[in-house]
Amino acid sequence: MADLLKVAMPKGRIHKSAAKLFQQAGYPVPSDLEESRKLIIPVPEAGLEFIMAKPVDVPTYVEYGAADIGIVGKDILLEENRDVYELLDLGIARCRMSVIGLPDYKPELNPRVATKYPRVASQYFRERGQQVEVIKLNGSIELAPLIGLAERIVDMVETGRTLVENGLVELEAIVPITSRLIANRVSFRMRGEEIQQLCDRLQSVVLETSK
Ligand code: PRP
Repeated sequence: MADLLKVAMPKGRIHKSAAKLFQQAGYPVPSDLEESRKLIIPVPEAGLEFIMAKPVDVPTYVEYGAADIGIVGKDILLEENRDVYELLDLGIARCRMSVIGLPDYKPELNPRVATKYPRVASQYFRERGQQVEVIKLNGSIELAPLIGLAERIVDMVETGRTLVENGLVELEAIVPITSRLIANRVSFRMRGEEIQQLCDRLQSVVLETSK
């Protein structure tokens, strides 16, 4: 039997909708994939083996070929800038990356910007000719302007609830974000037919749900 195709699946937020996409595409993926503490879950009936990864690490596993394909947010793809093929916009986990601040924010000289996305944020302000000091944080980014760590943040906005509950406002939207299907370059060459078939099956679900 051929090797199972290794799929790096993000744990957490995106996981449920990603697993659902595979199920809708006809892959017999167990619904409780994430409930187990197992990190490698073979599903031979689907020809797939799921690797349960921290979302930010998905492009790394795929770039190095530890996984053949993966599911990951565009925010992470932009920040990580890994050498992978981006095959398909899955249309799930729709949100946007934005510049956020307090409602009375006034531009000042060399302001600080806190973010989980230092690369994207630095590029964004550089392209606008704005000099800023970027501070990397790993979560609860909205705290930064509230406690004086930074004047602004670059972070994700989905429902906007976190902003409202913390008295913050969206100052500029940077880029719309959805999850993507990515592939390792060598896997795509060696197992192109299989990967393309999976991509086509997922794409028809995406098209169907976007109608
Ligand atoms: C994300 C993001 C925002 C929030 C946006 O944080 O960083 O804080 O969700 O969602 P909303 O617009 O629907 O409120 P996450 O919950 O992933 O945790 P984090 O603070 O650890 O990044």
